[in-house]
Amino acid sequence: MKILMVCLGNICRSPLAEGIMKQKIREAAFNWEVDSAGTGYWHAGELPDRRSIATALQHGIDITDQRARQFQQADFERFDKIFVMDTQNLRDVLRLAQTEAHRAKVELMLDQIYPGQERSVPDPYYDDNGFEAVFQMLDRACEAFVSYPRENT
Ligand code: 4NP
Repeated sequence: MKILMVCLGNICRSPLAEGIMKQKIREAAFNWEVDSAGTGYWHAGELPDRRSIATALQHGIDITDQRARQFQQADFERFDKIFVMDTQNLRDVLRLAQTEAHRAKVELMLDQIYPGQERSVPDPYYDDNGFEAVFQMLDRACEAFVSYPRENT
């Protein structure tokens, strides 16, 4: 199972989602791969936002090995599951999909805990206090996915 986490900048939400999912996979001793990317290119090559780094560290997760990159068409082939953080990411990624099989890999991250409700992980970029809440919802969503691997794989 290869999972890609996608947001807009690949510096706030998806790096947290990548770090959280990797930790849960380590704990479950699964042989899965996780990466993240942004639909935008502005932050390519950058470290995660310092507030995401700090929030992850408070939960014992080091995400400083990550560097931002832009989502690319090849990711539809490289990954089995593409989790997007919000409905704009969903539209942007689906617009790049060329086959039904590719479209079927894309899902809102919060569908794991709020199926069918089209809920978005809020963008915390302009909200210093939003990062912990984002961490908590990503943690629950990743936990749900890791807890029911047979339904997902
Ligand atoms: P992210 O947050 O999509 O969770 O990484 C953002 C990061 C940067 C910008 C917007 C959202 N930006 O406009 O630069």
